[in-house]
Amino acid sequence: MSRPWRLLLLPGDGIGPEVSEAAGQVLQVVAARLEERDGRGLEVRRGRIGGDALDREGVPLPAATLEAARDSDAVLLAAVGGPRWEHLPGPLRPEAGLLALRRELGVYANLRPAAVWPGLEARSPLRPEVVAGTDCLVVRELTGGLYYGQPRGRGVGTGGEVRAVDTMEYTAEEIRRVAHVAFRAARRRRRLVTSVDKANVLENSRLWREVVSNVAADYPDVRLEHQLVDSAAMLLASQPSRFDVILTENLFGDILSDLAGGLVGSLGLLPSASLGDGPPALYEPVHGSAPDIAGQDRANPLGMILSLAMLLELSLEAAWLAAELRQAVGAVLAEGWRTPDIAGPGARLAGTQEMGRRVARELERRTADAAPEPHLAGRGGSGGAAGGR
Ligand code: IPM
Ligand code: MG
Repeated sequence: MSRPWRLLLLPGDGIGPEVSEAAGQVLQVVAARLEERDGRGLEVRRGRIGGDALDREGVPLPAATLEAARDSDAVLLAAVGGPRWEHLPGPLRPEAGLLALRRELGVYANLRPAAVWPGLEARSPLRPEVVAGTDCLVVRELTGGLYYGQPRGRGVGTGGEVRAVDTMEYTAEEIRRVAHVAFRAARRRRRLVTSVDKANVLENSRLWREVVSNVAADYPDVRLEHQLVDSAAMLLASQPSRFDVILTENLFGDILSDLAGGLVGSLGLLPSASLGDGPPALYEPVHGSAPDIAGQDRANPLGMILSLAMLLELSLEAAWLAAELRQAVGAVLAEGWRTPDIAGPGARLAGTQEMGRRVARELERRTADAAPEPHLAGRGGSGGAAGGR
């Protein structure tokens, strides 16, 4: 019998621990179903990262956390950062722990799907007829560009003025590998890749455009268009449904994925998966630590729970359970349950933990007799490895 799957849970800071607790309720059901259906259980370990790790261990990414991550099939991270650590120098900020983890795990392709959930159209700041049908996937390069380029830092310029430097650098190979992920993803979707850059100004972007165009030759069945980032932002805000896969570099992807989250009603709903060439992959909700609402049981746990769904599909060979989990989320939303960020008139308000509990119960109910005899059934599900690996 195979060893259990290993998952590392990193709650981190702000609302991270709360959404982790809510997702933990779902994880219990998930672990039981994996065991029953696939005969392969799930071992969940916990670790520290970000401000939580800084407070207890003095560094944002303790060696033990990195080691446990490397020893796992998948890592599920909630959020890092907060005002308490904002005075610290760059390398000692909570965010540095996350960036180091992404880099150390080599998870260069960050997949951020954003779609409107049925019934939540009115939560979008856009008119319902404009947002209707929006279903895009931002493929963000995650381990290069301005986030990591050297040199970086502060110094004193020749005139005695303080100056700061960040460097934007991409190799052709860094662009090529993430472009392949985007094209493979587009094949499972509507077969359009919009590559976003600033090629009218940046040398990096001119290389980006050239390499992406070359990669496109391997995918004659996928349409490629190039867009400058400023006009891409405008189009995303005015005609979001025209986009399918949006392929872009690290910083542009950071910005555009928050925009996409705003358009579909709440950043609190958005999951993400960060993939490298092999395990472990890293899964995170897009929302961040939201210190203003931390500890109030107001945070939306669905971004975290939907990240768990991506994890099941892409890392644990359980597309069937991922589909059930997404449907469980849909069912709870269809019953009208809403955390404050997505609550409209007449909503049934639920706190973070209640939302988690409702999704867990719905998943349990939906999959109660779905467990066929172990080992005979195979994995079932759609079998579409949607991760581009
Ligand atoms: C995100 C976040 C991070 C990023 C921060 C917390 C470093 O904004 O995942 O989008 O910029 O990548
Ligand atoms: Mg961001």
